Amino acid sequence: MTIPTEQKALILPEKQGQFVVATWPVDKPETGEVLVRIEATALNPADWKVQAYGGLVNEYPAILGFDSAGVVVAVGEDVASPLVGDKILFQSTLTPRLAGFKQYTIAKANATAQIPDNINFDQAATVPIGLGTAAVGLYARSWARGGADLIPGWEAAGRAKYTNQPIVVFGGSSSVGQYAIQLARLNGFSPIIATVSTHNNDLVRSVGATHTIDRRLSTSAIVSKVKEVTSEPVEVIFDAISIASTQETAYEILASGGKLVLVHPSSIPQDKVKADKTVINTGVLAPDNKPVIENLYKRLTQHLASGDIKPNAVELLPGGLAGIAKGLEKMKNDAISGKKLVAHPQQTV
Ligand SMILES: NC(=O)c1ccc[n+]([C@@H]2O[C@H](COP(=O)([O-])OP(=O)(O)OC[C@H]3O[C@@H](n4cnc5c(N)ncnc54)[C@H](OP(=O)(O)O)[C@@H]3O)[C@@H](O)[C@H]2O)c1
Repeated sequence: MTIPTEQKALILPEKQGQFVVATWPVDKPETGEVLVRIEATALNPADWKVQAYGGLVNEYPAILGFDSAGVVVAVGEDVASPLVGDKILFQSTLTPRLAGFKQYTIAKANATAQIPDNINFDQAATVPIGLGTAAVGLYARSWARGGADLIPGWEAAGRAKYTNQPIVVFGGSSSVGQYAIQLARLNGFSPIIATVSTHNNDLVRSVGATHTIDRRLSTSAIVSKVKEVTSEPVEVIFDAISIASTQETAYEILASGGKLVLVHPSSIPQDKVKADKTVINTGVLAPDNKPVIENLYKRLTQHLASGDIKPNAVELLPGGLAGIAKGLEKMKNDAISGKKLVAHPQQTV
């Protein structure tokens, strides 16, 4: 296959600027890297937040996009796997060389997973950041941007280790929430209680939630509902939304000695903070959490093939890369429910 020297990319020309589709060079893979023709790229809330507020990105013009799936078209030195022609998924970072909102990108070979035959490119693109955040939040050691320091369910010691222990996932239908539920199920947590809009009850049950609670109920009502489900202390809570109201409710439910994993900084009022409850603002991109991601990717193909990990439902955006800006606007307006928005960069006109 001929590799082009130029491609189409979705560029953010300046901080808080407007996205534009433009021509961009195709990079060559260096040692430990592969060049991938991206067939599907998924959108994340962080993409619209970078555009709206700045942050995360220091150099402009910038290219965003964290979630990519495609075909390897070239490999750098010292890469035993994947090989040219392999279908892979991987987590991108927001540098123009590595980001996903373009037609070709560079991936680090040791943090890629082969896409099994039962998963298409669109589904594969829904996996990386959502699953990675859930995995880091549950399994990274308990440092400031780490996790709850649990043993992963993909290790023999972690499978069924937490049987009969309750877990609550706030935002069960979000991408991160759906993957947190699935990892908790692999760990044997029971019950797995998810807050969700009632129209998503069946969706979260299909990925492993045993009980659902309407996410629009008040703090006291959600606390009572959890108590109706379990009389055990709730020692692990994953708040995949982490706005003030979900944090407040989660913290109230959290038992003494327990760990609350947030996806944004804590806003729990100082006068409510207790020394015996640990709160962690997890960070999927933090370099110290890399070992969790690398271990996850060693098992990911197998988990996707077996159905232990199911991808998110997909809503395909029209227009290739040009359709992404509208999709991000939709996310910003809170108009996404239980789905991941996906674009096909190769269909960019
Ligand atoms: N720290 C990190 O490293 C990291 C990494 C990735 C993502 N994040 C953050 O994690 C959050 C989730 O990301 P995502 O990609 O999973 O988002 P997403 O899938 O786009 O989130 C949409 C979902 O959020 C749910 N939701 C909204 N408000 C809720 C509430 N008050 N209670 C319960 N559910 C609520 C909605 O549920 P219903 O439709 O059922 O109402 C909807 O399904 C974002 O804020 C993102 O920025 C952080």
